[in-house]
Amino acid sequence: MALLVLLLPNLLALGTQAVFEVLVPELPVVALYGQDVTLNCSFVPTGPFNLSDLSIIWQLTDTKRTVHSFWDDRDQLMDQVEAYRNRTSLFLPELGSGNVSLLLRDVQIADDGSYDCFVRIEEYNSAALLVQVAAPFSKPQVTSEPDSNLRPGDEVSLICVAHGGYPEAQVLWQDGGGRNLTDNVTVWQVANEEGLFSMRSVLTVLAEPNSVYNCTLVNPLLGDEGHASVTITASSVTGLNMAFPPVALWVTVGLAVCLLGLLIALAVICGRKIKESWEEANKGEEGKQLEEDESKTAMTPLKS
Ligand SMILES: *[C@@H]1O[C@H](CO)[C@@H](O)[C@H](O)[C@H]1NC(C)=O
Ligand SMILES: *[C@@H]1O[C@H](CO)[C@@H](O)[C@H](O)[C@H]1NC(C)=O
Ligand SMILES: *[C@@H]1O[C@H](CO)[C@@H](O)[C@H](O)[C@H]1NC(C)=O
Ligand SMILES: *[C@@H]1O[C@H](CO)[C@@H](O)[C@H](O)[C@H]1NC(C)=O
Ligand SMILES: *[C@@H]1O[C@H](CO)[C@@H](O)[C@H](O)[C@H]1NC(C)=O
Ligand SMILES: *[C@@H]1O[C@H](CO)[C@@H](O)[C@H](O)[C@H]1NC(C)=O
Ligand SMILES: *[C@@H]1O[C@H](CO)[C@@H](O)[C@H](O)[C@H]1NC(C)=O
Repeated sequence: MALLVLLLPNLLALGTQAVFEVLVPELPVVALYGQDVTLNCSFVPTGPFNLSDLSIIWQLTDTKRTVHSFWDDRDQLMDQVEAYRNRTSLFLPELGSGNVSLLLRDVQIADDGSYDCFVRIEEYNSAALLVQVAAPFSKPQVTSEPDSNLRPGDEVSLICVAHGGYPEAQVLWQDGGGRNLTDNVTVWQVANEEGLFSMRSVLTVLAEPNSVYNCTLVNPLLGDEGHASVTITASSVTGLNMAFPPVALWVTVGLAVCLLGLLIALAVICGRKIKESWEEANKGEEGKQLEEDESKTAMTPLKS
């Protein structure tokens, strides 16, 4: 008895395997927001079949609610989920060859999820595929706050923003040397009515002249979406180790030139005064000095 209960599911599985296989993509199907996507689903009929015997049901895996169904040779949309109204269709000429793919138009964020493709011709089988909706973000923009009158060591907030993407972005900050900056980074992502995210990331750094920061946005489904960079320029940072602003520079140079001129004038005047007093003091003794010099010269040959 117990053995039979264990075997029963296997016997049923064998029974369905004998019918036909339903094929769907193994990897998630990436669908771009606002665009159309084809959800591939096909089967290989075991033999010729009558189209009026074919039933197809596309449904949401979680809730089993109907996205699109077809039997008795026509679409059956009375219990279709409202959100899919007017957005779905099958490729009717392809049904006979086992192509029961669903065309989904104007993809919405809420379309994200798993779908069952259910096929019946006397026997039945089904397979599930995953749809991942993606929307590209706008190009990121970076600003700094404050952006002027900075002193070296002041805290600066670098703000990177981008809009209208899905799913949530990964944000990467790098300095000019390409090093990843992960400290002092905050990220906010908020969804709007349509489910699209706005991203705002703030990196707090200490002001250093001529430093470059890059903000790179990565959409997990679409990859690198672009980057923006901001430079803290020398002119936005003032301080001792920096060039003086022009006005201060010219005042300083002017003062230095005046001081130098004063010193030269003072030296010239002083020099003259000293010379004059020397000349006056030496006038009386000039004759005596000459005699002394002559006698010294005369005496020299005797010495050698
Ligand atoms: C759907 O199937 C066709 C034909 O096999 C293939 O070219 C196409 O890439 C498939 N599309 C998706 C989204 O899997
Ligand atoms: C089914 O047919 C449609 C329309 O010709 C085509 O785009 C799609 O790739 C087909 N899918 C498969 C799995 O053959
Ligand atoms: C297909 O089904 C229709 C209606 O049931 C029937 O009239 C027709 O003979 C069938 N064709 C085949 C090939 O079985
Ligand atoms: C679907 O299309 C019909 C006819 O074009 C229109 O009257 C109806 O409002 C549409 N439904 C939705 C949900 O867009
Ligand atoms: C920073 O971004 C600029 C362009 O915005 C790029 O040329 C440069 O290579 C980037 N630097 C790094 C370290 O990623
Ligand atoms: C920075 O981080 C990214 C993503 O996490 C990684 O791919 C890259 O190798 C890192 N670069 C460095 C220099 O650590
Ligand atoms: C992070 O911020 C704190 C305080 O604002 C600062 O002391 C620290 O150096 C910062 N870290 C980095 C890596 O910038």
